[in-house]
Amino acid sequence: MTTTTTDLDAYLDANRDRRIASYEAFLRIPSISALPQHAADCKRAAAFVADELREMGVEHVEISPTAGHPVVYGDWLHADGAPTVLVYGHYDVQPVDPLELWVSPPFEPVVRDGRILARGAADDKGQIHMHLRATEAILATKGRLPVNLRFLFEGEEESASEHLEKWLAANHARLAADVAVISDTGFFEGNLPAITLSLRGIMYAQIDVIGAPVDLHSGGFGGAVENPANALARIIAGLKGEDGRIQIPGFYDDVVELSAADRSALAKLPFDEEAYREALGLPALVGEVGYTTLERRGVRPTLDVNGLWGGFQGDGAKTIIPAHAHAKVSCRLVANQDPERIFELFRDHVARIAPPGVRTTVTSLGGGRPSLTPMDHPATQAAARAIEAAFGRAPLYIREGGSIPVCASFETVLGLPVVLAGFTNPDDNAHAPNESMVLDNYERGIRAIARLWDEIAATKLGAAARA
Ligand code: BES
Ligand code: MN
Ligand code: MN
Repeated sequence: MTTTTTDLDAYLDANRDRRIASYEAFLRIPSISALPQHAADCKRAAAFVADELREMGVEHVEISPTAGHPVVYGDWLHADGAPTVLVYGHYDVQPVDPLELWVSPPFEPVVRDGRILARGAADDKGQIHMHLRATEAILATKGRLPVNLRFLFEGEEESASEHLEKWLAANHARLAADVAVISDTGFFEGNLPAITLSLRGIMYAQIDVIGAPVDLHSGGFGGAVENPANALARIIAGLKGEDGRIQIPGFYDDVVELSAADRSALAKLPFDEEAYREALGLPALVGEVGYTTLERRGVRPTLDVNGLWGGFQGDGAKTIIPAHAHAKVSCRLVANQDPERIFELFRDHVARIAPPGVRTTVTSLGGGRPSLTPMDHPATQAAARAIEAAFGRAPLYIREGGSIPVCASFETVLGLPVVLAGFTNPDDNAHAPNESMVLDNYERGIRAIARLWDEIAATKLGAAARA
């Protein structure tokens, strides 16, 4: 980091305890968007963010209700002639089950071994909090920001941002900006600083296989009727080949193959495949033939069963033919696959391979489009300089397999380039028990964000675009 202590550094140093206390207060709100019984908690998390924005001097702060969880907006637009940046984050979190695997309760944050442990510590409340603290520190020490900022924090990202696109379209005017910055991604293996260049999209569906109205005696009826669980197993087996290729006709039609340059850039990342396998505790890594592990997990489409149930689950043996069986299946998608089109192909393929003797239905549970972000954009390069200044190392350029549905909407609905500058450690256990954020990433990340606004101001992005 810099050797001279600036007012900003001094402010951040003096406020560390208060900052962590506020971070913990935010993490104590169980804002699980997927579970209806936590709707009031999502409202509380939105109010927490809105109050913080108001307190630090951000203007036009508004909590907008949606058909789902509220959107929080606020802006500070007094940097005349300077670029305008739209900052996005999500205050909702994933469910916490299985609870018994947490070493401490998920909504009672604790600091241990240089990490803060709680649901949302990394994904994404921790990173929203970093943005709040960076803005607060700049406004408190300088009285103004070097760029214009618009903040957009939503509460439905973890359930596919169902109502956000409509909100974006309706609020087009007040989202005018030169670039969007999203801190909802992370660093590369080994906690190496990184900027993400692409995200995958997603198609999510449920398969329900229905047999007789009630379970049947498997002796009395077995052999004469189709078994929904067997039928479901056959359907799932027909979705993907042993070579890791997805068997749905037309599935790969719109896939844009990675360029040779992109493939070689991925191959040059300092990735220790054996250490990766070992850390996962797996006997082997597997995937689509013809692609490397980094390609398989970041830039190739996938199909995975997320959950599978039906029939007898208790101890011992119960001799039945279950009345029904179910699976939740998702596909990660890449450019230019369209989630709605992939859902239709998926549904038609399941209908084609579903055995007779049972009723099979396929229902969409949502989706999101894939996105690509420009590496050579001045704001991306500004982010690279800011990250290097704060972390002492230039970022790697990586491709993430996860999805942030709004990212594609920023590009298509608002026409905004996106910079994916996130700061979480790759072993953050996002979505899993014992989610954590390395506090050094959090602290340096706040400084990187503050520096980013200076770097973006120096590009004269906004003025140049308007000149
Ligand atoms: N922050 C993640 C997205 C992410 C994951 C980025 C891994 C980089 C690496 C985001 O909160 C997330 O989990 N998104 C969901 C979206 C889905 C519910 C539509 C996902 O990817 O499963
Ligand atoms: Mn996230
Ligand atoms: Mn997430």
